[in-house]
Amino acid sequence: MEFFLIQKYIFFIMIKGQFPIQKFQELQTPFYYYDLDLLRSTLNEIKTQALKGNFHVHYALKANVNKSVLHEIKKADLGADCVSGGEVQAAIDAGISPSKIVFAGVGKADWEINLGLDHDIFCFNVESVPELEVINELAEKHQKKARVALRINPNISAHTHHYITTGLSENKFGINMSDLDSVVDLFPSLTHLKLIGIHFHIGSQITDLSSFQSLCVRINELQQFFLSKKITLEHINVGGGLGINYEHPNHIPIPDFDAYFKTFRDHLDLLPGQTLHFELGRSVVAQCGSLISKVLFVKKGSSKQFAILDAGFTELIRPALYQAYHHIENITSELPIEPYDVVGPICESSDTFAKGFNLNATKRNDLIALRSAGAYGEIMASQYNLRQLPKAYTSDELK
Ligand code: LLP
Repeated sequence: MEFFLIQKYIFFIMIKGQFPIQKFQELQTPFYYYDLDLLRSTLNEIKTQALKGNFHVHYALKANVNKSVLHEIKKADLGADCVSGGEVQAAIDAGISPSKIVFAGVGKADWEINLGLDHDIFCFNVESVPELEVINELAEKHQKKARVALRINPNISAHTHHYITTGLSENKFGINMSDLDSVVDLFPSLTHLKLIGIHFHIGSQITDLSSFQSLCVRINELQQFFLSKKITLEHINVGGGLGINYEHPNHIPIPDFDAYFKTFRDHLDLLPGQTLHFELGRSVVAQCGSLISKVLFVKKGSSKQFAILDAGFTELIRPALYQAYHHIENITSELPIEPYDVVGPICESSDTFAKGFNLNATKRNDLIALRSAGAYGEIMASQYNLRQLPKAYTSDELK
């Protein structure tokens, strides 16, 4: 047994991602690398599993808007979930039909609402009464009826990092259930709006599916409320949030979409004719992306050693912002393992990717892959310290 465990442990630490290292050596680091074959397999799996419930999946553009990535999303025929005018435009530019675009966000500017109206997007996910009033006013100017869904804050814990929890009543998102009655009663006076659905999003990087089960139970209760108000909802949108395995990107590269969608098939009671919509971001693109960086220096301290990379939180902010774990591999060394504090070059102590991380013995100019960085990586890059935004390459380009 012990032998088996040891074997398993060795197996777990030895496996590394497959990368075109020679090609990498010709490129200026740091850069993002997207494995499009993995993305395509992930999209296939999403489609297969979503089909079992006839579900509609909108890709959450906030996770990644790299052109090649978006191209694959469009080819897979997913819709789009947008939170800004810029994202609505990017979805349209990628060729995603406006009839598959949903537009959420607590603070939509007039020009952003107008953009959605101009293109007749599928639905605005609305988060407050003032927003309903403004969309009504702008739709009237367009002589249109805007389709809206109410984003309801279901007060359900997602058991995830507090910065990415969104479905508790203390969060700024959505309409509280206690206000729902009065909000719904406003609709007869909002003559340029058509209420077509309800929307939820309880948080991100959710690995405990029971949170989604609680959401289903809450939605079933709310369906009764809408029935009692004689309101027919055409669709329910349960947002995104499915987590990925950051610890073992090589072993679990595709999240368990089967179990995820099954939770909704088993626990959500759709009414006849209703459609169910999802807004998945991280689970679609996280595992296909890596941040590739070069070791600038290895600095020995009295009790530890630092691997100083040419990538920092300007390229990947998740560890600094959410204390997030990203698996790190030295892809050019097979030497015995040693612990390193893996840090970036930015003038802030929070510019640390990991402490005491076991890497194959590392030296200047080695290449380091920060894994599972396809979601909320490149898109959250900044130019702090006047650094350049990272470039990105795909497996198709470097074949
Ligand atoms: N729908 C709405 C309304 C959202 O706010 C989000 C994410 C999603 C869908 C997509 O959620 P996903 O499937 O990706 O979990 N920057 C953070 C994550 C922020 C998520 C914000 N909202 C991170 O790096 O962990």
